[in-house]
Amino acid sequence: MQEIPSNCHAEFYYSLQISATVYTATVMPDCRPWFNSHTVSLFQKNNVLKIPKSIQPLIDDGLVDEVIRSLMSGKEAQVFLVRCGNEVCCAKVYKDVVDRSFKKAVQYHEGRQARNSRRQRAMENRSKFGRDQQEVVWQSAEADALVRLAAAGVRVPKSYGLIGGVLLMELITGADGEVAPRLNDISLSSEQAIKDHATVMSFVLRMLCIGLVHGDLSEFNILQDSQGPVIIDLPQVVNAAANNSAKTMLIRDVANVTQYYSRFAPELADTHYAEEMWQAYEKGEIRPDLPLTGKFEFPTEAADVDAVLHLIDVAYEEEQERQERMGSH
Ligand SMILES: Nc1ncnc2c1ncn2[C@@H]1O[C@H](COP(=O)(O)OP(=O)(O)O)[C@@H](O)[C@H]1O
Ligand SMILES: [Mg+2]
Repeated sequence: MQEIPSNCHAEFYYSLQISATVYTATVMPDCRPWFNSHTVSLFQKNNVLKIPKSIQPLIDDGLVDEVIRSLMSGKEAQVFLVRCGNEVCCAKVYKDVVDRSFKKAVQYHEGRQARNSRRQRAMENRSKFGRDQQEVVWQSAEADALVRLAAAGVRVPKSYGLIGGVLLMELITGADGEVAPRLNDISLSSEQAIKDHATVMSFVLRMLCIGLVHGDLSEFNILQDSQGPVIIDLPQVVNAAANNSAKTMLIRDVANVTQYYSRFAPELADTHYAEEMWQAYEKGEIRPDLPLTGKFEFPTEAADVDAVLHLIDVAYEEEQERQERMGSH
Protein backbone atom coordinates (compact mmCIF):
# COMPACT_ATOMS: atom_id res chain seq x y z
CA MET A 1 0.00 0.00 0.00
CA GLN A 2 1.41 3.34 -0.98
CA GLU A 3 0.95 6.29 1.35
CA ILE A 4 -0.75 9.39 0.08
CA PRO A 5 2.19 11.57 -0.97
CA SER A 6 2.52 14.58 1.26
CA ASN A 7 2.51 16.93 -1.70
CA CYS A 8 -0.66 15.42 -3.13
CA HIS A 9 -3.42 17.95 -3.02
CA ALA A 10 -5.55 17.74 0.08
CA GLU A 11 -8.73 17.25 -1.87
CA PHE A 12 -7.36 14.32 -3.75
CA TYR A 13 -7.25 11.33 -1.49
CA TYR A 14 -6.82 7.84 -2.67
CA SER A 15 -5.23 4.69 -1.63
CA LEU A 16 -3.27 2.81 -4.17
CA GLN A 17 -2.10 -0.71 -4.41
CA ILE A 18 -0.14 -2.14 -7.25
CA SER A 19 0.72 -5.78 -7.61
CA ALA A 20 2.05 -7.63 -10.65
CA THR A 21 -0.85 -7.04 -12.98
CA VAL A 22 -3.70 -5.70 -10.95
CA TYR A 23 -4.44 -2.45 -9.30
CA THR A 24 -7.01 -1.23 -6.91
CA ALA A 25 -7.77 2.38 -6.36
CA THR A 26 -10.10 3.28 -3.56
CA VAL A 27 -11.49 6.69 -4.09
CA MET A 28 -13.08 8.74 -1.37
CA PRO A 29 -16.06 10.93 -2.22
CA ASP A 30 -15.38 14.28 -3.84
CA CYS A 31 -11.72 13.62 -4.26
CA ARG A 32 -10.89 15.59 -7.33
CA PRO A 33 -7.58 17.18 -8.10
CA TRP A 34 -7.84 20.89 -7.65
CA PHE A 35 -6.12 23.26 -10.00
CA ASN A 36 -5.47 26.96 -10.07
CA SER A 37 -8.26 28.48 -12.05
CA HIS A 38 -7.86 27.58 -15.68
CA THR A 39 -11.00 26.07 -17.01
CA VAL A 40 -11.79 23.22 -19.29
CA SER A 41 -13.02 25.63 -21.95
CA LEU A 42 -9.42 26.60 -22.69
CA PHE A 43 -8.73 23.12 -23.91
CA GLN A 44 -11.27 22.59 -26.62
CA LYS A 45 -11.67 19.13 -27.91
CA ASN A 46 -10.92 19.24 -31.63
CA ASN A 47 -12.16 15.81 -32.54
CA VAL A 48 -13.76 12.79 -30.97
CA LEU A 49 -11.14 10.72 -29.24
CA LYS A 50 -11.36 7.03 -28.60
CA ILE A 51 -10.80 6.53 -24.89
CA PRO A 52 -7.45 4.81 -24.37
CA LYS A 53 -7.86 1.36 -22.80
CA SER A 54 -5.71 2.15 -19.79
CA ILE A 55 -7.65 5.33 -18.94
CA GLN A 56 -11.05 3.61 -19.02
CA PRO A 57 -10.69 2.21 -15.45
CA LEU A 58 -10.02 5.74 -14.15
CA ILE A 59 -13.23 6.87 -15.84
CA ASP A 60 -15.10 3.89 -14.39
CA ASP A 61 -13.82 4.81 -10.92
CA GLY A 62 -14.86 8.43 -11.35
CA LEU A 63 -11.30 9.77 -11.09
CA VAL A 64 -11.42 11.09 -14.63
CA ASP A 65 -14.57 12.47 -16.27
CA GLU A 66 -13.39 12.90 -19.82
CA VAL A 67 -10.41 12.53 -22.09
CA ILE A 68 -10.10 15.91 -23.82
CA ARG A 69 -7.31 15.23 -26.27
CA SER A 70 -3.96 13.63 -26.79
CA LEU A 71 -1.23 16.10 -25.91
CA MET A 72 1.83 14.29 -27.10
CA SER A 73 2.91 10.83 -28.06
CA GLY A 74 6.60 10.30 -27.38
CA LYS A 75 9.01 7.39 -27.34
CA GLU A 76 8.08 6.17 -23.91
CA ALA A 77 4.58 7.39 -23.25
CA GLN A 78 1.46 9.08 -24.51
CA VAL A 79 0.22 12.12 -22.60
CA PHE A 80 -3.47 13.09 -22.54
CA LEU A 81 -5.34 16.10 -21.29
CA VAL A 82 -8.14 14.82 -19.11
CA ARG A 83 -10.94 16.52 -17.27
CA CYS A 84 -11.40 15.82 -13.59
CA GLY A 85 -14.49 17.73 -12.47
CA ASN A 86 -14.04 21.31 -13.64
CA GLU A 87 -10.33 21.06 -13.95
CA VAL A 88 -7.87 19.77 -16.47
CA CYS A 89 -4.92 17.54 -15.71
CA CYS A 90 -2.39 15.35 -17.46
CA ALA A 91 -2.60 11.59 -17.76
CA LYS A 92 0.62 9.92 -18.82
CA VAL A 93 0.14 6.43 -20.20
CA TYR A 94 3.32 4.38 -20.40
CA LYS A 95 4.09 2.33 -23.45
CA ASP A 96 4.86 -1.35 -22.99
CA VAL A 97 8.43 -2.34 -22.37
CA VAL A 98 8.57 -3.95 -25.83
CA ASP A 99 7.93 -0.58 -27.42
CA ARG A 100 10.82 1.04 -25.61
CA SER A 101 14.47 0.80 -26.42
CA PHE A 102 15.64 -2.27 -24.52
CA LYS A 103 19.30 -1.24 -24.39
CA LYS A 104 18.37 2.09 -22.88
CA ALA A 105 16.08 0.43 -20.36
CA VAL A 106 18.86 -1.91 -19.21
CA GLN A 107 21.23 1.00 -18.60
CA TYR A 108 18.65 2.85 -16.54
CA HIS A 109 17.53 -0.23 -14.62
CA GLU A 110 21.00 -0.80 -13.20
CA GLY A 111 20.88 -0.17 -9.48
CA ARG A 112 17.09 -0.21 -9.29
CA GLN A 113 15.66 -2.44 -6.66
CA ALA A 114 12.28 -4.07 -6.65
CA ARG A 115 10.68 -3.92 -3.25
CA ASN A 116 11.01 -7.61 -2.53
CA SER A 117 13.66 -10.11 -3.44
CA ARG A 118 11.35 -12.48 -5.34
CA ARG A 119 10.47 -9.61 -7.65
CA GLN A 120 14.13 -8.69 -7.89
CA ARG A 121 15.04 -12.26 -8.97
CA ALA A 122 12.19 -12.32 -11.44
CA MET A 123 13.39 -9.04 -12.95
CA GLU A 124 16.87 -10.45 -13.31
CA ASN A 125 15.57 -13.65 -14.90
CA ARG A 126 13.56 -11.67 -17.44
CA SER A 127 10.59 -14.04 -17.37
CA LYS A 128 7.18 -12.70 -18.37
CA PHE A 129 6.53 -12.07 -14.67
CA GLY A 130 9.98 -10.48 -14.45
CA ARG A 131 9.20 -8.11 -17.31
CA ASP A 132 5.90 -7.18 -15.69
CA GLN A 133 7.76 -6.45 -12.47
CA GLN A 134 10.28 -4.32 -14.32
CA GLU A 135 7.38 -2.46 -15.86
CA VAL A 136 5.89 -1.72 -12.43
CA VAL A 137 9.28 -0.50 -11.17
CA TRP A 138 9.75 1.65 -14.28
CA GLN A 139 6.31 3.24 -14.01
CA SER A 140 6.41 3.83 -10.28
CA ALA A 141 9.89 5.39 -10.60
CA GLU A 142 8.39 8.52 -12.14
CA ALA A 143 5.54 8.87 -9.62
CA ASP A 144 8.00 8.31 -6.75
CA ALA A 145 10.52 10.76 -8.22
CA LEU A 146 7.85 13.48 -8.60
CA VAL A 147 7.03 13.22 -4.91
CA ARG A 148 10.67 13.09 -3.78
CA LEU A 149 11.74 15.95 -6.01
CA ALA A 150 8.90 18.19 -4.89
CA ALA A 151 9.89 17.51 -1.28
CA ALA A 152 13.50 18.40 -2.13
CA GLY A 153 12.46 21.77 -3.56
CA VAL A 154 12.62 20.96 -7.27
CA ARG A 155 9.75 22.36 -9.37
CA VAL A 156 7.90 19.41 -10.92
CA PRO A 157 4.22 18.76 -11.69
CA LYS A 158 2.29 17.62 -8.61
CA SER A 159 1.72 13.90 -8.74
CA TYR A 160 -1.83 12.69 -8.13
CA GLY A 161 -0.68 9.09 -8.22
CA LEU A 162 0.00 6.15 -10.50
CA ILE A 163 -3.15 4.17 -11.15
CA GLY A 164 -3.00 1.05 -13.30
CA GLY A 165 -0.04 2.26 -15.35
CA VAL A 166 -1.42 5.80 -15.75
CA LEU A 167 0.31 8.69 -14.00
CA LEU A 168 -2.15 11.45 -13.15
CA MET A 169 -0.45 14.75 -12.54
CA GLU A 170 -0.85 18.50 -12.52
CA LEU A 171 -1.01 20.14 -15.92
CA ILE A 172 1.69 22.79 -16.18
CA THR A 173 0.38 25.87 -17.94
CA GLY A 174 2.29 28.75 -19.43
CA ALA A 175 1.91 32.46 -18.77
CA ASP A 176 -1.06 32.54 -21.21
CA GLY A 177 -2.90 29.75 -19.39
CA GLU A 178 -2.38 27.32 -22.26
CA VAL A 179 -0.36 24.11 -21.93
CA ALA A 180 3.17 25.20 -21.00
CA PRO A 181 5.73 25.21 -23.80
CA ARG A 182 8.91 23.16 -23.68
CA LEU A 183 12.15 25.12 -23.52
CA ASN A 184 12.80 24.05 -27.09
CA ASP A 185 9.73 26.00 -28.20
CA ILE A 186 10.66 29.38 -26.70
CA SER A 187 13.28 32.12 -26.93
CA LEU A 188 14.76 33.91 -23.96
CA SER A 189 16.62 37.14 -23.31
CA SER A 190 20.18 36.60 -22.17
CA GLU A 191 19.34 37.77 -18.61
CA GLN A 192 16.45 35.34 -18.41
CA ALA A 193 18.62 32.52 -19.80
CA ILE A 194 21.30 33.13 -17.14
CA LYS A 195 18.70 33.25 -14.37
CA ASP A 196 16.87 30.12 -15.56
CA HIS A 197 20.12 28.22 -16.13
CA ALA A 198 21.07 28.91 -12.51
CA THR A 199 17.62 27.72 -11.43
CA VAL A 200 17.95 24.46 -13.35
CA MET A 201 21.48 23.94 -11.94
CA SER A 202 20.04 24.34 -8.45
CA PHE A 203 17.39 21.72 -9.31
CA VAL A 204 20.08 19.31 -10.54
CA LEU A 205 22.02 19.93 -7.31
CA ARG A 206 18.94 19.29 -5.16
CA MET A 207 18.29 16.06 -7.05
CA LEU A 208 21.84 14.89 -6.46
CA CYS A 209 21.46 15.75 -2.76
CA ILE A 210 18.74 13.08 -2.59
CA GLY A 211 20.87 10.69 -4.65
CA LEU A 212 19.12 11.08 -8.01
CA VAL A 213 20.20 12.01 -11.52
CA HIS A 214 17.45 12.83 -14.05
CA GLY A 215 19.08 10.86 -16.87
CA ASP A 216 17.19 12.48 -19.77
CA LEU A 217 17.32 16.18 -19.03
CA SER A 218 17.20 18.52 -22.01
CA GLU A 219 15.20 21.39 -23.51
CA PHE A 220 12.52 18.78 -24.36
CA ASN A 221 11.95 17.73 -20.77
CA ILE A 222 11.75 21.13 -19.13
CA LEU A 223 8.58 23.21 -19.39
CA GLN A 224 8.37 26.96 -18.88
CA ASP A 225 5.55 28.36 -16.77
CA SER A 226 5.10 31.92 -15.54
CA GLN A 227 7.58 31.36 -12.72
CA GLY A 228 10.28 29.67 -14.81
CA PRO A 229 11.47 26.12 -15.51
CA VAL A 230 9.59 22.98 -14.41
CA ILE A 231 11.25 19.57 -14.75
CA ILE A 232 9.27 16.68 -16.27
CA ASP A 233 9.70 13.14 -17.65
CA LEU A 234 11.38 11.13 -14.92
CA PRO A 235 10.75 7.38 -15.43
CA GLN A 236 14.43 6.81 -16.19
CA VAL A 237 15.65 8.62 -13.08
CA VAL A 238 18.96 7.13 -11.97
CA ASN A 239 20.20 6.22 -8.52
CA ALA A 240 23.53 8.05 -8.28
CA ALA A 241 25.11 5.67 -5.78
CA ALA A 242 24.12 2.41 -7.47
CA ASN A 243 24.50 3.14 -11.17
CA ASN A 244 27.94 3.16 -12.81
CA SER A 245 26.70 5.52 -15.52
CA ALA A 246 25.39 8.13 -13.06
CA LYS A 247 28.33 10.51 -13.46
CA THR A 248 28.20 10.26 -17.27
CA MET A 249 24.46 10.90 -17.19
CA LEU A 250 24.85 13.89 -14.88
CA ILE A 251 27.47 15.37 -17.21
CA ARG A 252 25.23 14.77 -20.22
CA ASP A 253 22.14 16.24 -18.49
CA VAL A 254 24.02 19.39 -17.52
CA ALA A 255 25.66 19.67 -20.96
CA ASN A 256 22.25 19.50 -22.69
CA VAL A 257 20.76 22.18 -20.49
CA THR A 258 23.83 24.41 -20.68
CA GLN A 259 23.99 24.09 -24.45
CA TYR A 260 20.36 25.17 -24.68
CA TYR A 261 20.70 28.26 -22.46
CA SER A 262 23.99 29.23 -24.07
CA ARG A 263 22.07 29.82 -27.33
CA PHE A 264 20.83 32.98 -25.60
CA ALA A 265 23.79 33.60 -23.25
CA PRO A 266 26.97 32.28 -24.91
CA GLU A 267 29.05 32.90 -21.78
CA LEU A 268 27.31 29.90 -20.15
CA ALA A 269 28.99 27.50 -22.59
CA ASP A 270 32.28 27.57 -20.71
CA THR A 271 30.96 26.27 -17.38
CA HIS A 272 31.46 22.93 -15.64
CA TYR A 273 28.65 22.56 -13.12
CA ALA A 274 28.33 18.78 -13.45
CA GLU A 275 31.97 18.11 -12.59
CA GLU A 276 31.77 20.57 -9.70
CA MET A 277 28.63 18.90 -8.31
CA TRP A 278 29.95 15.39 -8.79
CA GLN A 279 33.16 16.21 -6.95
CA ALA A 280 31.17 17.55 -4.00
CA TYR A 281 28.96 14.44 -4.15
CA GLU A 282 31.94 12.08 -4.09
CA LYS A 283 33.52 13.96 -1.19
CA GLY A 284 30.24 13.81 0.74
CA GLU A 285 30.10 17.61 0.70
CA ILE A 286 26.95 17.98 -1.34
CA ARG A 287 24.13 20.08 0.14
CA PRO A 288 21.24 22.03 -1.38
CA ASP A 289 22.75 25.43 -0.56
CA LEU A 290 26.23 24.58 -1.86
CA PRO A 291 27.39 27.73 -3.66
CA LEU A 292 28.04 26.71 -7.27
CA THR A 293 30.57 28.54 -9.41
CA GLY A 294 30.53 26.52 -12.64
CA LYS A 295 34.30 26.42 -12.42
CA PHE A 296 36.22 23.20 -12.13
CA GLU A 297 39.94 22.44 -12.00
CA PHE A 298 40.48 19.40 -14.18
CA PRO A 299 43.39 17.25 -12.93
CA THR A 300 46.53 18.51 -14.65
CA GLU A 301 49.16 15.93 -13.64
CA ALA A 302 50.13 14.02 -16.73
CA ALA A 303 49.68 10.26 -16.49
CA ASP A 304 52.82 8.50 -15.24
CA VAL A 305 53.69 6.87 -18.56
CA ASP A 306 56.79 5.06 -17.19
CA ALA A 307 54.76 3.42 -14.44
CA VAL A 308 52.14 2.27 -16.95
CA LEU A 309 54.81 0.86 -19.29
CA HIS A 310 56.41 -0.94 -16.35
CA LEU A 311 53.06 -2.54 -15.43
CA ILE A 312 52.61 -3.68 -19.02
CA ASP A 313 56.11 -5.26 -18.97
CA VAL A 314 55.36 -7.07 -15.72
CA ALA A 315 52.08 -8.41 -17.08
CA TYR A 316 53.79 -9.51 -20.30
CA GLU A 317 56.55 -11.35 -18.40
CA GLU A 318 54.00 -13.07 -16.17
CA GLU A 319 52.06 -14.20 -19.19
CA GLN A 320 55.26 -15.55 -20.85
CA GLU A 321 56.10 -17.51 -17.69
CA ARG A 322 52.57 -18.90 -17.58
CA GLN A 323 52.75 -19.98 -21.21
CA GLU A 324 56.13 -21.63 -20.57
CA ARG A 325 54.81 -23.47 -17.53
CA MET A 326 51.82 -24.70 -19.53
CA GLY A 327 54.14 -25.81 -22.36
CA SER A 328 56.33 -27.80 -19.98
CA HIS A 329 53.38 -29.91 -18.72
N1 LIG B 1 2.59 17.87 -16.45
C1 LIG B 1 2.61 18.30 -17.71
N2 LIG B 1 2.08 19.51 -18.02
C2 LIG B 1 2.08 19.94 -19.31
N3 LIG B 1 2.60 19.26 -20.34
C3 LIG B 1 3.15 18.05 -20.09
C4 LIG B 1 3.19 17.52 -18.77
N4 LIG B 1 3.78 16.31 -18.81
C5 LIG B 1 4.11 16.09 -20.10
N5 LIG B 1 3.73 17.13 -20.88
C6 LIG B 1 3.88 17.26 -22.35
O1 LIG B 1 3.93 15.95 -22.89
C7 LIG B 1 5.18 15.73 -23.53
C8 LIG B 1 5.62 14.29 -23.31
O2 LIG B 1 5.77 14.03 -21.93
P1 LIG B 1 7.07 13.37 -21.33
O3 LIG B 1 6.84 13.19 -19.86
O4 LIG B 1 8.26 14.19 -21.70
O5 LIG B 1 7.09 11.93 -22.00
P2 LIG B 1 8.00 11.28 -23.16
O6 LIG B 1 8.70 10.17 -22.49
O7 LIG B 1 7.02 10.79 -24.16
O8 LIG B 1 8.95 12.32 -23.70
C9 LIG B 1 6.12 16.76 -22.95
O9 LIG B 1 7.13 17.13 -23.86
C10 LIG B 1 5.21 17.92 -22.68
O10 LIG B 1 5.03 18.72 -23.83
MG1 LIG C 1 9.97 13.77 -22.75
